[in-house]
Amino acid sequence: MAERAPESLQEKIEERLQYYEDLGIRLFYRDRATTASAASFAPTVSVQVPTPAFQESPLPKPAAKPFPPKVAAAAPPPRIAPVVAPSGPSLFESVDKIKDDMLPKIREDIGDCTRCKLHKGRNKIVFGDGSPKAELVFIGEGPGADEDYQGLPFVGRAGKLLTQMIEAMGLQRKDVYICNVVKCRPPENRAPEPDEVATCSPYLLRHIDVIRPEVIVCLGAVAAKTLLATTRGISQFRGEWLEWRGRKLMATYHPAYLLRNPNAKGEVWKDLQKVMAELGLQPPKKSKSS
Ligand code: URA
Repeated sequence: MAERAPESLQEKIEERLQYYEDLGIRLFYRDRATTASAASFAPTVSVQVPTPAFQESPLPKPAAKPFPPKVAAAAPPPRIAPVVAPSGPSLFESVDKIKDDMLPKIREDIGDCTRCKLHKGRNKIVFGDGSPKAELVFIGEGPGADEDYQGLPFVGRAGKLLTQMIEAMGLQRKDVYICNVVKCRPPENRAPEPDEVATCSPYLLRHIDVIRPEVIVCLGAVAAKTLLATTRGISQFRGEWLEWRGRKLMATYHPAYLLRNPNAKGEVWKDLQKVMAELGLQPPKKSKSS
């Protein structure tokens, strides 16, 4: 039976895995020379970081905590200040603004896309979903299996959590727009590779230019790093108001990360509260039955 690592070790491993995730490293392989005791924490196949192998333990998973978690009220939002100096050339610099662009036109231009290697393994292109007039756009990384199957963003487990987050903000999914950095599922849910991001991101830029949201929320490091052209880890600027092409941008943790690290929900809720304050949103009133 697989053993659980002591809590202090789990924390250290999680920190280290987060560090690797920030660097964009997600796949780890077991060293064949691993000792027997270490092997009890290592999977026999590759794992997606930041899921520590010891989570494969047969111990029952803790019950999902509700969203929003109970946290102290957020401080008033600070004024917008760019705290992340772009560290590389923006992928978007050379993208010309298309006059009279519209979401259906973007979809038409994407067509049955074969521009990058992701098309080989995809079932459906996941274009994006929500209101074309949304004040708030959420940008994820790329479709997973459920999204690839349904052709819609964030409909799997992480998507259900994102829906809860949106509802906790007093909104519904149809009020916001949800899309991803890449529109086709990367194999084994790996992070999209730079060439795939470079190929797909002009369409993302067109989405944003058409929707013209007040606020963009980047879910996770891939979205944040793509838009901000930074190599800094997301934990360094998460929760800060940033300025991106004249819009307000907030990076926060990806809901998939929250599924593995429910303790981080409080941080994300604080970030979303800042977004709510910026957009003048109130959390929904609790009904007596809930
Ligand atoms: N994760 C993402 O980043 N996007 C999705 O659409 C689903 C899961």
